[in-house]
Amino acid sequence: MAITITFLQQLPLAATRVTRRQQSFYLAIAGDTPAATVQNMCGIVGYVGRAQATPILLDGLRRLEYRGYDSAGLAVVQRGRLETRKCAGRIAALAKLVRKEPVSGSLGVSHTRWATHGKVNDQNAHPHFDASGKLALVHNGVIENYQALKEELIRDGDTNFRSETDTEVLAHLIGKLYDDSCASTVDAPGKKARLFDAVRTALRQVIGTYGIALVHADVPDFMIGARRGSPLVLGVGKGENFLASDVSAIVAYTRDAVYLNDFDVVAAGTDKFEITSLAGDSTEHPVSKVEFTAEDVRKGDFPHYMLKEIFEQPNTVRDAMRGRLNHEECTARLGGLNMVAPQLRDVGRIVLTGCGTALHAGRVGEYLIERLANIPTEVDYASEFRHRNTPMTSETLVFAISQSGETADTLGALRESRRKGFRTLGICNNVASTIARESDGGVYMHAGPEIGVAATKSFTSQLVILTLLGLLFGRMRNLSAAEGSRVIEALEALPQQVEAVLDLNDQIKAIAKKYANANGFLFFGRQFNYPIALEGALKMKEITYLFAEGHPSAELKHGIIALIRSDLPSVFIAPDDSVFSKNLNNIEQVKARKGPIIALTSGNCAKHLKEIANEIVVLPEALDYVMPILTAVPLQLLAYHLAAQLGRDVDKPRNLAKSVTVE
Ligand code: M6R
Repeated sequence: MAITITFLQQLPLAATRVTRRQQSFYLAIAGDTPAATVQNMCGIVGYVGRAQATPILLDGLRRLEYRGYDSAGLAVVQRGRLETRKCAGRIAALAKLVRKEPVSGSLGVSHTRWATHGKVNDQNAHPHFDASGKLALVHNGVIENYQALKEELIRDGDTNFRSETDTEVLAHLIGKLYDDSCASTVDAPGKKARLFDAVRTALRQVIGTYGIALVHADVPDFMIGARRGSPLVLGVGKGENFLASDVSAIVAYTRDAVYLNDFDVVAAGTDKFEITSLAGDSTEHPVSKVEFTAEDVRKGDFPHYMLKEIFEQPNTVRDAMRGRLNHEECTARLGGLNMVAPQLRDVGRIVLTGCGTALHAGRVGEYLIERLANIPTEVDYASEFRHRNTPMTSETLVFAISQSGETADTLGALRESRRKGFRTLGICNNVASTIARESDGGVYMHAGPEIGVAATKSFTSQLVILTLLGLLFGRMRNLSAAEGSRVIEALEALPQQVEAVLDLNDQIKAIAKKYANANGFLFFGRQFNYPIALEGALKMKEITYLFAEGHPSAELKHGIIALIRSDLPSVFIAPDDSVFSKNLNNIEQVKARKGPIIALTSGNCAKHLKEIANEIVVLPEALDYVMPILTAVPLQLLAYHLAAQLGRDVDKPRNLAKSVTVE
């Protein structure tokens, strides 16, 4: 059942004309199981201007589709009343609903919801409404004290709740505060001011996180947004303004953006906007130019974003080091760290933190920084680090690694680290992200928008940056100029070498075809390539849904070897390096137990694998520091081709979201 709701502006809800279909909606939600729904990783788009809002709202949602969602909805003010369409399922279903029952108007909000708990159904889809049905609100985040707020509203006589969601409670609270303040006759500007006030007063009572956008049928050229913990950006257009949870939703319409900070509340009309604090004080925000264009977020001729992004890596790897190599002094130039030489020299310990793929990059970073700079380095899951009382010394430097710059756990780790007084830097792709803005400095990846849920190009960019960090710290300590220069050469060779790896695409596709019926995959590597085994397994599981594990090769004999069987291929990352012979022993152990072997190797080592491995992928030779960048790419391709073979939704794998803004 999809939902179409029309709220009549002039009448109280009890007196509105409600169609049979609408009635069944109210009844259905009245009987819904009480459950606080948590909306996160969701998409928000809002529009106020002179154009038709609906196509813009739908288009914006489609641009956020890659982030993952399970239901979608929109509300538009049409001739002084709210028109709503919402349904569980894809945006295509919402678009169909809109085609069947078109909505016209130049003010509206829309949303894609990604449930983390609570039912996925039409009723729980956003927008939600206040008691009068004149206010529509979309929300990312969790209102933790929604029960207490709701009880208070009920005590005050509000019995008109149509769902059990936390979002609806916020809509009711704002609506009530607004209605109370408009008890006497108020003119249009007065209504705007009172709505703005009502939003701030309500949000001051909220415990929890939110990114919200709302419209009210009383003020048909006025939209309000606010954030705390969930990103929100204002797109500034000519005669129109936009709100979005991610700038990529609106970059086709404007590249002028104002990134809101926590506790900002913005009111936008067609030609102006105002931002205040929760207390109501006006705040100044710069209008920034969005770095990328709408073209950058198109698939082009590629069947999937993931494949496009894998193939972008020769360029993104180059962009990550562009302007950062200092040939003369055989070191790296990373001015964004905001640290002068004596401070850099004083660093006695490094902590690298992040989640998922970013954490795996950190694991490579641990090997890199220890080898190149001899600084004790530790890697920790952001989710663990933030809750752990790890002993830190004053010379500790913390890096939060995050493509999106919005991952809740990584942001939590960054804030915890700063709270304790440690200098905390970011390695981010999204320049306007919260992590980028809240860190003491950092390094941008410059990889361009990454749309596929599976991180690919951001990973190799992170590896380039971590190599640059190792080089910079190393050259301030005991790394010789000659060694520094070898690292630079190795980095500069990478774009071409990545091209050469991409030329192996057909071979890898054939391997994927051959093993499409496998029951899962094991990945093994040593030293710099142990984290690549972890990353290869993560890519495999998230887009193929097959069982996959990554381990240091030597761990085989400590238990994993019990898993070896003929339908479980082992992928060995065994380039020509100081641990090749050790890897070879492990490969023999698998071979002896009839496990199929796919080997990634380089240089002369291929000949040692001829009689043992079922498949051999020969990569360009490179220094072991940078080899992980070359070994990661074929594993991305392997996972991609397998997922495509299996008919998986490669760019939007089930249950996953691009940016995880819940803990
Ligand atoms: O945006 P972030 O780099 O902070 O995201 C961290 C992880 O959520 C992310 O890498 C996730 O593991 C990817 N889906 C992996 O492909």
